[in-house]
Amino acid sequence: MAEVAADRACPTQAAAAAPADSGRLTRDVVVRTIGVTKEYVMGGSVTHALQGVDLSIHRGEYLSIMGPSGSGKSTLFNMIGGLDVPSAGMVFIDEVDVAQLDSYELAWLRCRKIGYIFQSFNLLPVLTALENVTMPMLFAGMHPDDAREKGAEILAMVGLGDRVFHRPFQMSGGQQQRVAVARAIANDPAIVLADEPTGNLDLKTGREIIELLLDLKSRMGVTIISATHDMKMLDVSDRVVWIRDGKVERIERREELRISVGTIDDSEE
Ligand SMILES: Nc1ncnc2c1ncn2[C@@H]1O[C@H](COP(=O)(O)OP(=O)(O)O)[C@@H](O)[C@H]1O
Ligand SMILES: [Mg+2]
Repeated sequence: MAEVAADRACPTQAAAAAPADSGRLTRDVVVRTIGVTKEYVMGGSVTHALQGVDLSIHRGEYLSIMGPSGSGKSTLFNMIGGLDVPSAGMVFIDEVDVAQLDSYELAWLRCRKIGYIFQSFNLLPVLTALENVTMPMLFAGMHPDDAREKGAEILAMVGLGDRVFHRPFQMSGGQQQRVAVARAIANDPAIVLADEPTGNLDLKTGREIIELLLDLKSRMGVTIISATHDMKMLDVSDRVVWIRDGKVERIERREELRISVGTIDDSEE
C-alpha cells in the first residue's frame, strides 16, 4: 500500500522521462501506441477490452476517442495515461516506452506531463477550489505561496476567479469541472486526458467545457485527448478515432468528419 502511495506521489525533480536523443525521433508524435491489448479476467471469463490498438497522436492536436459504452475508451485512456498497463503492446509518451519507466519516473510522468479530467470531476470534497488546484503543484515541489498565486491565476483563466474559496458542493457541475480542468493544467502538462468530460453535464455546460479545452489547446499548445460517446462534441476535434469492441474502426480528420456526421444525422432522422 505504501508503495502504491509513493508511486502516486510526484517527484520534485525531472526524471529521465525524456531522453536526450528524443529530438532525432518524431517530435511531432506525443503519444504512440503499438498493438495495445488489454484483457480483464474475472471469475474465469475474459474480456478483450482492447484488441491491438495502433495510434499516433500529434503534439497540439485535439483528438476524440469516440465509441459506444463498453468499447474500450476508458481502458485506452488508462493505458495512455500510465494508470494501468497493457496485457501486450507498447505505449510511448514522447517516444519513451512507458513500460521501461521505474515507479519514480512513472510518477513524474503522471504528475508533470499529463493532466487528467474525469466524468465525475473527482475533486477532493473537503478542499476549496484553490486547494484542489494547488495540490498537484505542491506535489511537484512548488512553494505554497507560488502555488496559491498560480492556482488563483488558473482559476481566473477558467472563469472561476470569484469561486476560489468555494468547496465542490458549493459549485455547479460545470464549475466543478472547470476546477478539474484548472487542476489538470496546474503543472503545465503536454497532454490533457479527458474521459467523458461532459458526461455529467447538460449540453450547454458540456459545450462550455469543450470550448475551454479548445481554448487551452490554442493558448498553451497542449494536446487534448478526450474519450466521449457524445456526437455533438465531434466538430471541435482535429481528428476522431472511432473505436468499437476494443479495435480502432477508423480515424477521421475534421474535414472528413463533416461528411460522416451528416450521414449519421441523416440516418437518425
Ligand atoms: N477493471 C475491469 N475489470 C473487468 N472488466 C473491465 C474493467 N474495466 C473495463 N472492463 C470491461 O472492458 C470493456 C471496456 O470497458 P471500458 O474501457 O470501460 O469502455 P468504455 O469506456 O468505452 O465504456 C467493457 O466490456 C468493460 O466491462
Ligand atoms: Mg468509459
